[in-house]
Amino acid sequence: MGFLADKRILITGVLSKHSIAYGIARACHREGAQLAFTYQNERFKDRLAKFAKEFDSTLIYPCDVAEDAEIERLFAELGEHWDGLEHSIAYAPSEAIEGDFLDGISRDAFRIAHDVSSYSYPALAKAARPLLLKGRNPALLALSYLGAERTMPNYNTMGLAKASLEAATRYLAFCLGPQGIRANAISAGPIKTLAASGIGNFSRLLAYNAHNAPLRRNITIDEVGNAAAFMLSDLASGITGEIMYVDGGLNTTALGNADPLPA
Ligand SMILES: NC(=O)c1ccc[n+]([C@@H]2O[C@H](COP(=O)([O-])OP(=O)(O)OC[C@H]3O[C@@H](n4cnc5c(N)ncnc54)[C@H](O)[C@@H]3O)[C@@H](O)[C@H]2O)c1
Repeated sequence: MGFLADKRILITGVLSKHSIAYGIARACHREGAQLAFTYQNERFKDRLAKFAKEFDSTLIYPCDVAEDAEIERLFAELGEHWDGLEHSIAYAPSEAIEGDFLDGISRDAFRIAHDVSSYSYPALAKAARPLLLKGRNPALLALSYLGAERTMPNYNTMGLAKASLEAATRYLAFCLGPQGIRANAISAGPIKTLAASGIGNFSRLLAYNAHNAPLRRNITIDEVGNAAAFMLSDLASGITGEIMYVDGGLNTTALGNADPLPA
């Protein structure tokens, strides 16, 4: 029996087989969880239904997190008890995640990046709370990136949004802990996904990570998935408010590799 047996977990953010949320769904399903999924809009509905079927689920719901009414409707439709909620959603306008930080930032780009990538985590938690309170040792989990804490080329406005997401994780943990709900985030190393392809010169980031991380390689969606399944499970019952790194160790280094990065 898997360590998530009988857990009911809502997964957001599956867009393709390369999505981090797909790796998380695969690990949670393997460990025995029953899964439900959200998709951003009708364009992705059929695709998501196929993914859900792979994980023995027919529970798919629309939810554009930029729309309050859609968040409200999602939890009205979900209706029963839930034991876990996984947040794997980010977006920023393209000019805000490439090139010169100040050239790309604007009030609008800042607002959209923070709305979709950070506000949505506590917004989903707030709407989910009544259902999570009926669950067994419920847990929330979001996905962050090192650009929340350290500067790097191109990540720019998304770095600000991820810093906000990480602060939201701690405040969620502080608020929900007394009610028995945990909230954490995983800071994942770079992985080639659709969202990541919007970040300027992303292939260079991948090459840098593989060259400088102590493990000397990039990580996979399955490695993030395994860590996420653990964080959503009762095995992690003493952990809340944490940002856990699944990045091959890159965050622990100052100068990672004495050999120069190949051109
Ligand atoms: N890929 C990486 O290198 C990396 C590294 C660390 C953290 N992350 C984070 O992982 C998470 C998942 O991204 P991914 O890399 O798997 O990319 P992805 O493109 O597969 O997933 C991004 C998801 O965000 C969803 N989304 C965007 N706007 C939305 C909205 N308004 N409403 C609802 N959903 C919306 C998309 O539909 C998609 O499912 C993001 O939070 C991302 O910042 C990614």
